Formats: sequence, structure tokens, C-alpha cells
Amino acid sequence: MGNAEQCDAWAAADAYELYMGRWSRRLAVAFIERLSAAADLAWVDVGCGTGALSAAILDLSNPASLLAIDPSVAFVEHARTVIHDRRASFAVGAAHGLPAGDGTIDVVASSLAYNFFPDRSSALTEFLRVLKPGGLFAFTVWDYPTGGPAFIDAFWQAAAALDPEAAALDEAVRFQFCSEPSLVEELAGAGLAGVRVEALAIPTSFSDFDDLWVPFTLGAGPAPGYVAGLDPGRVDALRQRLSSDIAERGGVASLRATAWMGRGVRAR
Ligand SMILES: C[S@@+](CC[C@H](N)C(=O)[O-])C[C@H]1O[C@@H](n2cnc3c(N)ncnc32)[C@H](O)[C@@H]1O
Repeated sequence: MGNAEQCDAWAAADAYELYMGRWSRRLAVAFIERLSAAADLAWVDVGCGTGALSAAILDLSNPASLLAIDPSVAFVEHARTVIHDRRASFAVGAAHGLPAGDGTIDVVASSLAYNFFPDRSSALTEFLRVLKPGGLFAFTVWDYPTGGPAFIDAFWQAAAALDPEAAALDEAVRFQFCSEPSLVEELAGAGLAGVRVEALAIPTSFSDFDDLWVPFTLGAGPAPGYVAGLDPGRVDALRQRLSSDIAERGGVASLRATAWMGRGVRAR
């Protein structure tokens, strides 16, 4: 595990909900509405976190079954606690080892998690194993390279202005492959057919600067994981720098987050 991955803190479920869950739930709804899948399918939600995408699948897609899986014990426990649905089951585990038989799944879905898989190639091989012929892999990732989630982009730019070591942790640097051509190439290269990648955007408006800032101090996610390692003086300097940078971007009410939604099918 490199330095960057050490900041990827996926343990505090309530903190995650405040930092990202409130936006990932919104993105999940847009994702599932755009996907417009048929009813009565067998789904897996890989990297389910606290359950944002699973909830959208259950609410909007009328699945026959849904397996929600994530390596974070605390996140899976949170998802299990908030989702009460007889079609849903939950497991602790990673993308490269799904507890599903060969050719048994109609849709492998994943939201905002694909870029965190340490070995995406093994994950795609695993998805092709569990998918039925004609089955679908569909996912979202933030469009990090162009500053997709503006509040996160502003955070890393402020952090790098104060700490040269933060530049390598910037998600726009770590996840440069989150662009349309790279994602298409990656999925097609893994053997998926009919690959399409399209843009999806949601508003992320905060009530005031603290509504944006406080979740960065709660320790869940890459940027909060970075803040957790700073001493109080550096945290305060970062807060001030980010506050002035956000004001220059037009303030907390005007921020947006853009994502890529990708899909490809297992050829028959
Ligand atoms: C940004 S969160 C997204 C969670 C949720 N899908 C959502 O939309 O809120 C990224 C998730 O990826 C999970 N993750 C990290 N590595 C993983 C892996 N190898 N396999 C599956 N999930 C992984 C993390 O535990 C975390 O829950």
C-alpha cells in the first residue's frame, strides 16, 4: 500500500455519510435512472460503502436480488442497518473475490468505488466471471482529472499550496485514468463489449463554509484521511486557505460535481 492509499480511510460510517454519502446518494439516483435497467434482475453492488447505490437500486430498479459487498466491516454494517429489504443481502469482501457463482449475475454495479480498487484488471476479470452472457457492468467515478467534484478539487489545491507532499495525494493526480478515453480503453481492453462512457453531473451546494469544511475533519475518505495526519496549526491554515479559495470559486452554493458513468456487457 502506498502513501496515498493509506489516506483512504473507509471506517467511520456516519462521517462518510456527511463527507460523501449525502452526494453519493444523489449521484446513485441519477446513475440508476440513466441506466434504466429491466426489473427482476440479479444485482451486485461492489464497493457498496454505506449503501447509497444499493438503496437506489432497490428503490428504482425492482431487482430480484441484490448482493451489497464492501471490504469495510463498519460500512457494510451501516448499510445492513439502514436497508431493510428482503431482496438485499450483505457481505464483507473485495471486488476481486465476489461470493457469486460463475455466470449468475445480471448486473454488476459500482458507484464511486472502481478507482479505489487496488487491481482494477483483476476486478474486471472477476466481474466477467460472475456475469451471465449479456450481463452488464455499470459504474460511476468522479471526473477527477477536470476537477469533477469541485469541493474535493478545491481541497487538494489548497492542501498542495501549503504542503508540497499533498500534491501526490490529490485525487486528480492519483486517478488520472478517470477520463472518458481511458475508461473506454480499460473496459474494452478487459474484454467488455458495447462499452459506453457518458457524463453525469449533480449539484453539491453547502449551506455555509463549515458545512463543507467540517466533514473534511471527520476522518472518512482520502482528503479527511490526509487532514487526520496534520497537526492543529496546519489544519487551521488549510481551513483558512480553502475558505478563501472557495470564495474565489464563487462560494459554497455554486459548486458542482461531475462524474463518468461507464458500462459494458459480457459478450454472449
Ligand atoms: C467513495 S466510497 C463509495 C461507497 C458507495 N458506493 C457510495 O457511493 O457511497 C469507496 C468504497 O470503495 C470501497 N473499496 C475500496 N477498495 C475496494 C475493493 N478492493 N473492493 C471493493 N470495494 C472497495 C471502500 O471500502 C469504500 O466503501
